[in-house]
This record gives sequence, C-alpha cells and structure tokens, in this order.
Amino acid sequence: METDKAVLTGNGDDERFEQAVRLLLGGELVAFPTETVYGLGALATSEEAVRKIYRAKGRPSDNPLIAHVGTAEEVGRYAADVPATARKLMDAFWPGPLTLILKAAPGVFAPSVTAGLDTVGIRMPDHPAALGLLRRIGQPLAAPSANTSGKPSPTAADHVLADMHGKIPYILDGGRTGIGIESTVLDLTADVPTILRPGAVTAAMLEPVIGPVNGSAEAAEAGAGAPRAPGMKYTHYSPDAPVFLIAPDLAAIRSAVGQLHADGRRVALVAPEGFGEAGADWFFRAGRPGDPESVSADLYDALRACDGTDADLILAAATDETGIGRAVMNRLGKAAGGRWFGERNE
Ligand code: TXA
Ligand code: MG
Repeated sequence: METDKAVLTGNGDDERFEQAVRLLLGGELVAFPTETVYGLGALATSEEAVRKIYRAKGRPSDNPLIAHVGTAEEVGRYAADVPATARKLMDAFWPGPLTLILKAAPGVFAPSVTAGLDTVGIRMPDHPAALGLLRRIGQPLAAPSANTSGKPSPTAADHVLADMHGKIPYILDGGRTGIGIESTVLDLTADVPTILRPGAVTAAMLEPVIGPVNGSAEAAEAGAGAPRAPGMKYTHYSPDAPVFLIAPDLAAIRSAVGQLHADGRRVALVAPEGFGEAGADWFFRAGRPGDPESVSADLYDALRACDGTDADLILAAATDETGIGRAVMNRLGKAAGGRWFGERNE
C-alpha cells in the first residue's frame, strides 16, 4: 500500500480533509495530528476498520482505544451515563488533553474499541486538524497513538511515516505536536475519580473542578488483578537500546559516560539543553533544565532519534515532577523499565 502524506498548509486543506473523510468512511486508517501526539484513526463504529488499527500497530487486542469526538454534545449519545463531574471536566478542559473513562452506551462502538470492557475512553482533542477532521466526519474516531506498539508515540508526521509506511494510506501532516506526550486518562467510573495515565492535565488542575482525585496511576496499576488502564501494563515508549534513568547532573553523567566508555560501550544521552558537554557519543536535546513542558515536547523525538544511532545504551536525564513533569517521568520510567544507571549492573 502507498502511504500518502498530505501537508496541511492552510491553503487547499478542504481537499485534504475530504480525502481523509472518504478513506475513513471507506473503512481505511488515517493518521492525524492532535495537541498531544499523532493518532491513528478509524471509524469507531466499524469493527472491520478498528481491527486494522490493531494490525497496523501490532497492538495487543486487550488494550482498548480512545474514541475522539469533535464536540462535547455528542458524548451524550456515546456514553450510557454522563455524570455531573464529566460535564464539569468537559467544560473546563475540552478541547484538551484529558480522556474521560465513562460507561459506554450499548451498541455504539465496535467491540474492539472497548476491548470487551463496558466502559469507553472519550476525548476531544485541541488541534485544528483533528477538530477539522472530526467535525467534517461527524462520527467518533477510534485513535490510539500512531506508533508501532511499544515504540515512542509520534510527535511528527515523519515519525508516523517511519512506523506506518506501507501499512496505512494517508497521513495528515500538521507539523510537530505541541504537548508531546499522551493525554491524561481519568476514570470516572471509579468511586473516586482516578488518574490511570498521567498527562498534561494534572490532579492539581482537576481537584478544584471536581474535588478529590486519586492521582496515583501507579497505585491503580499495582492493584490486584487486571490493570485499570490495560495499556499501561505493556512495555512502552522504548527505543531499541536499553534505557537507564540518570539524575540531571553534569558531573554524574560525565562519570557514567566515562565508566561506560571504559567498558567499550557507546552511549546516547537524552537530556535537556546544556548537557551536550557530558561526553556521550550522541546527544539528543530534550527541552530545557527545570522546564518539564519543554522536555515533554521534545522527549519522544529524542528517544526515537536514538534508534538512528549505534548506541549500546541510552542514558535519559530525569526531570522534576512538577506539573507535566510527573507524566514525563512516568513515560521515562516505562521506557527504562524503572532502571536507574548505577543501581545494578548495566
Ligand atoms: O493523547 C492521547 O490520548 C493519544 C491521542 C492520539 O489522542 N492517544 C493515545 O491512545 O494515547 P493510546 O491508545 O495509545 O492510549 C490509550 C490509553 C491506553 O493506556 C488504554 O489502556 C487506556 O487509554 N484506555 C482506553 N480505553 C480505556 C478504558 N475503557 N478503560 C481504561 N483504560 C482505557
Ligand atoms: Mg499509545
């Protein structure tokens, strides 16, 4: 299959959107930008179309997809129950990087969207291309991140192309995404609203709107039985070489690189501006020190860049956990399998 990348220019985009809508209505996949990462879209009502998503990504079939909507009003048709907390959150944060887990209305979504659960994740993305597409098509689009399962999510159309070339017919190219990591997933079917995946919308932002929130995704994951956000149990966000976390300290990183070189190993470093002098064989800048939002925006591009090197090992600098920093550390922790450099034998 040929993969066509259509660059949105602000001029003649109607035709590009119409082509995307035609393909989606015909049961094909179309990748599109959101404010978080690129999504791999299919009509959420078509089982045949949604199955193509799992195939193209190599995604485990027990990991449900997020349904994207172009308006908040339609949620009433897709959810069996829209609690007052959901209305308040939609008013406060939509369009935006917040996915709400609600009881699904029966018979709306293709079974593979919800992976057999009676709940569904719904979000309205804050990106003109995503909204342009959703409002033209007027139906929910199931869209996970448009990466091969396990790889870092795509924050640029070329990342999508690298993973989906020959597997999907069309990519809407809206440039680099702004936030750079996936939406916050909030379960509103739990007794206390629970963050299943941290993102740009933090517990501190949610609580003034709806009261106490269980902000511990780790607690939800560690809980007995199946994880609440099934996707969070899988290896994620991983470049080819093993990743180790390290404190953002120039002397510590220099010494780690020195040790690794003494062992004959080649090192890629993902760290904020100013760490280019640490002596690593490759340095990929991720944001600025003390500025987690800028780290978030660059993180996946930097992790992906490591796959273009011959590094034996990747060191990734930790960031402070304020604001979106918590979500950044969640993703880095998963990329590294929780390992810190020096903790055990690398
Ligand atoms: O920012 C984002 O959310 C991006 C863009 C494209 O919108 N999408 C995204 O989708 O990250 P995906 O499929 O890569 O991640 C969806 C996460 C998974 O961890 C999945 O397990 C969880 O949301 N999820 C989806 N539906 C769920 C449900 N009904 N109950 C619990 N978790 C759910
Ligand atoms: Mg994903």
